[in-house]
Parts: sequence; structure tokens; C-alpha cells
Amino acid sequence: MERHVLEKGEIGRSCSCFIETLALIGAFYTAKTCFTILSDTYTLIRVHFIPRLVKRADLVKLYGKWAIVTGCTSGVGKAYAKELASHGVNIILISRNKEKLEAVAKELVDSYKIETAVIVADFSKGREIYSVIEKALMGKEIGILVNNAGVFYPHLDCFTSLTKPNIWELIDVNIGAASMMLHMVLPGMDYLDYLSQALYYEYAPKGIFVQTLLPGFVSTKMIKFIDVFSKESFLSPSAEEYVHHAITTLGISRRTTGYWPHTILLMLGNYVPEWLWAWGMNRAAAYLHGTKTL
Ligand SMILES: NC(=O)c1ccc[n+]([C@@H]2O[C@H](COP(=O)([O-])OP(=O)(O)OC[C@H]3O[C@@H](n4cnc5c(N)ncnc54)[C@H](OP(=O)(O)O)[C@@H]3O)[C@@H](O)[C@H]2O)c1
Repeated sequence: MERHVLEKGEIGRSCSCFIETLALIGAFYTAKTCFTILSDTYTLIRVHFIPRLVKRADLVKLYGKWAIVTGCTSGVGKAYAKELASHGVNIILISRNKEKLEAVAKELVDSYKIETAVIVADFSKGREIYSVIEKALMGKEIGILVNNAGVFYPHLDCFTSLTKPNIWELIDVNIGAASMMLHMVLPGMDYLDYLSQALYYEYAPKGIFVQTLLPGFVSTKMIKFIDVFSKESFLSPSAEEYVHHAITTLGISRRTTGYWPHTILLMLGNYVPEWLWAWGMNRAAAYLHGTKTL
């Protein structure tokens, strides 16, 4: 009987020790989650809201006279070209279609009285085009490079359903062009770095600000096959609305969605387990293919 009572006491002590350890782990986890939420909220306010309250930055003074915008004849690229031009920055426009490029250039010159230069280049054609671009850029003081040209799947599908030419186009335009343009433009920016440090040391210690924009859905022709997001809405804004927000994060955040509702979505996404995301995305894809209801 006595032994039985002793064993019971021992089990009770082990259980309470186990429960205390679990409570401690729970407390640590809760504290870590609270800290992450607070820090994310601070980032959201610092990147997306505070810059909109202060005076418009003088981009020419901060980065120089010229900006390159690739993929500038429609969507996000065109909106970027317009927004930068509205700040008085001269724009070098790069895309495939000469007529569309000249139409955008005229619109910018007429509306914002800036200078423009047009370069016709198809990034999907591989390495030959870069010597043409390099020649056209000679002598220009490039301060901003908007590496925007991009292609997406021709329709919503699995990776293995893409054709080989589709994959090469994705590599050449989305990866090749971005890398080659940086390689071409960065050394010039090093020079600007030196110059801007001397002149505007107080504004930008390095003079070069590399920003990665990771937007959610933006209502442009690229996503026209996704009914839900191709229409303009709070979650899939027009390119102009998107860029209007994104440009205020320049010089403030190195890596951002550029648009605060997208940042909130991303933050929420961080709290959803990966398997749940994957499940949700598969359901959404099946819905968009018309094979399932959500
Ligand atoms: N829309 C979204 O929801 C979304 C979301 C996340 C990221 N993005 C990214 O944002 C960027 C812009 O997308 P968007 O929605 O504005 O696309 P978009 O409206 O389809 O515009 C794409 C631009 O890229 C140019 N372009 C396409 N292929 C080219 C090539 N081979 N060589 C040179 N230029 C080429 C097009 O010009 P021409 O046809 O005149 O050559 C056009 O100006 C892309 O990098 C995309 O991946 C978009």
C-alpha cells in the first residue's frame, strides 16, 4: 500500500515537471510570436506609411539624372516610368516594340517635360542584344535601374507542362536580362557612388540603393487569365496605384512588396503553415482551371 502511494507521488511529480516544461515552451513561443508581430507591424508602418507623410524625395538629387526602365510599354514598368518622370528623372525606355516605346516616350515628354531615350531590345533573344544596349547607354549617368521586364506562364499550368521555349524565355527575360542589365549599369553607379558620397553624403552613404520589389497580384495584362485578380481591386491594384505606393518605399526598404495590403498578406502568410498554403494554392489553381469549386 505504502509503495503504491510512493509510486503515485513519483508519477505526480514527473507529470507536473512535464507540464511546467510545456508551459515554459508555450510561453517562449508566445513571446517570440508577439515579438515577430510587433516587429512586422513596425516595418509595415515604417516602410509604407511614414514615407507618405513626409515630403516627396528629390530622386534626381539622390540618384542622378537618368533612370532605365525595362519592360516599360505597359503595366508596372510603364507606371514606374511615369512616376519617375513625374519626379523629373529622365527615362531610358527598353522593350521590344518600337512604336509602343515611342508612344510612351512621347507621353512622358509631353506630360513631364523630361528627356527620354528609346532602346528596342527583345530580351528573349539572348546575349546579342546587350552590346546594342551597352552602346546606347554610353555617356549616360544612370542612377536608377528598374529591372522590370518579365514574362509569366502563358496560362496557369504546372511547371512540367511548359514547353522548352517557354522555359528559355522565362530564363532569358526574367533572369538573364535582370543580371546582364545590373552587370552593365552597376560600374557606372560605382562612379555615381563616389560622386554622390562627395556631394550628398548626408543622404546616402553608399549612393546606390538596390531594392527588390516582390509584389502580390497587380492588375495588368500579365495576369489577365486569372479572372479574380485581373480586375482592379484593393488586393490587385492597377499598375499606377501599385507604383504610386511602391515609389515611396525607395530608399527605405531594400526588400518589400511595395504595397501595404500585399505586405499584410505576406505577414499573415508567415503565420500560416506551408502545407496549408500549398493546399490553398492547389485548390485555387483547380478552381481557376474550372475542375473544382473552392
Ligand atoms: N502583374 C502582377 O500581378 C505581377 C506580380 C508579381 C510580379 N510581377 C512582375 O512585374 C513585372 C512587370 O509585370 P507586368 O504585370 O507589368 O507585365 P506586363 O503588363 O505584361 O508588361 C510586361 C512588359 O515587359 C515587356 N517585355 C515582355 N517580354 C519582353 C522581352 N522579351 N524583351 C523586352 N521586354 C519585354 C513588355 O513590353 P513589350 O511587349 O512592348 O516588349 C511589357 O512592357 C514582371 O517582371 C512581373 O514578373 C507582376
